[in-house]
Amino acid sequence: MRYAIIGTGARSAMFYNALSYIKEIKDEHELVALLDLNPKRMEYVKKKTGKNLATYLPHQFEEMIEKEKIGGIIVTTKDSTHDEYIIKGLKRGLRVITEKPLTTDEKKCQAILETIEETGNDQLIVTFNYRYSPYRSRVKELIQAGTIGRVTMVEFQWYLDTTHGADYYRRWHRNKENSGSLLVHKATHHFDLVNWWIDSYPEQVVAMGRKNFYRPETFPYRLRCRTCDLAEECKFRLDLSESQELTGLYLEAEGEDGYFRDACVFSPEIDIWDTRTVMASYNNGVLLSYSLNNYAPYEGYRVSFVGTRGRIEQDVIEASYISGHDGKIERRTEKHQVRLEVFPLFNESYTVDVEVGEGEHGGGDLLLLKDIFLDRKEADPLRRKAGALDGALSILTGIASRRSIEEGRIINVKELMDFSLDRLVQNKK
Ligand SMILES: NC(=O)c1ccc[n+]([C@@H]2O[C@H](COP(=O)([O-])OP(=O)(O)OC[C@H]3O[C@@H](n4cnc5c(N)ncnc54)[C@H](O)[C@@H]3O)[C@@H](O)[C@H]2O)c1
Repeated sequence: MRYAIIGTGARSAMFYNALSYIKEIKDEHELVALLDLNPKRMEYVKKKTGKNLATYLPHQFEEMIEKEKIGGIIVTTKDSTHDEYIIKGLKRGLRVITEKPLTTDEKKCQAILETIEETGNDQLIVTFNYRYSPYRSRVKELIQAGTIGRVTMVEFQWYLDTTHGADYYRRWHRNKENSGSLLVHKATHHFDLVNWWIDSYPEQVVAMGRKNFYRPETFPYRLRCRTCDLAEECKFRLDLSESQELTGLYLEAEGEDGYFRDACVFSPEIDIWDTRTVMASYNNGVLLSYSLNNYAPYEGYRVSFVGTRGRIEQDVIEASYISGHDGKIERRTEKHQVRLEVFPLFNESYTVDVEVGEGEHGGGDLLLLKDIFLDRKEADPLRRKAGALDGALSILTGIASRRSIEEGRIINVKELMDFSLDRLVQNKK
């Protein structure tokens, strides 16, 4: 199939590398075009692929599809623009692979689901790479096998550190209108894991959020690192010129669109939270308590599943990185450190061996790529390939959390959509 990548920032690399270097994938598929609003960023990516790819601007989308005989698009643009390309692609009958989050608000989410109903084109894949990390798949297997009976509660804390966790405050993610807040942009991964692990979806959500750290009270605010008089003493300084990738993708391209990749993390213009807590109830009766923090001393998470026959605990410390950075960031751990332990009621606890794969996201990215590009004949008993409904259900928890913080009340997820979620879920089963 002939593919085009829409959005040629840092994340596009995973896809153009897969289409260029993974033999089984490039035997079946070909990357033929790029589309982005920044011509310089596109040129940089085009050079990196080493191919003579055709490049297009947003208003040339239809022309690109026709001229290049595109069969599939890969959407890796800023989150708030995913819906536009997903909908256009589905209407053209294309295969659409989109990065998470599916989109950023409930209206756009509804429009995507309506397009699928109207066109009958359900070839939409949301790339939830977290599902594919072998140690997270192992948790799903344990729960699915009934190891702790019926799951009744999930306790889930996610920690983003001052390398990776800070990086969201330098870029477009820092404003809700672009990312839907990190309760959507980032937590879509976590809420998707919960939905997938416990095979359910949220009904009621209540949340609280604060901005405690990434604000001028922590450190004096300036516009950006590059022109900052305090850069030497700031622990959050990002020198774009130290990295070939950051220079090529952003520094040399910023004259085109004013996208500063090193904006000050203490800016008062930031309108997303950095400290949040969420409680949710699920359709199958499970209760969730979740928190997300962006200024932790290490990167990772702790999750516990309470069941009628015991408890499963997983602790993970992850290597951290800055998206688009080519190796200058110090990593606390080179490989993820994982503990997975089962505590049966009235019996001895035991640890479960887990595999930590090579590559980003604990080996998840590579498995995901093979799953989405290669038409495997055998069914995946873990059902890891995620579609539109999975994408929707995972962002609805975050959208409801955001609304709960803003309105100070419990949100019924069903009130966000005109669709009957129950019907969509039943139809899919
Ligand atoms: N699954 C993961 O682990 C993971 C990791 C990183 C990023 N992502 C996702 O990938 C996407 C891109 O993130 P990134 O880090 O590459 O961001 P980025 O800022 O590096 O790149 C975004 C690109 O989109 C382009 N763009 C913005 N608006 C556009 C529009 N209307 N039309 C065409 N192009 C437009 C920008 O010019 C830029 O080149 C995001 O949705 C993000 O959530 C996922």
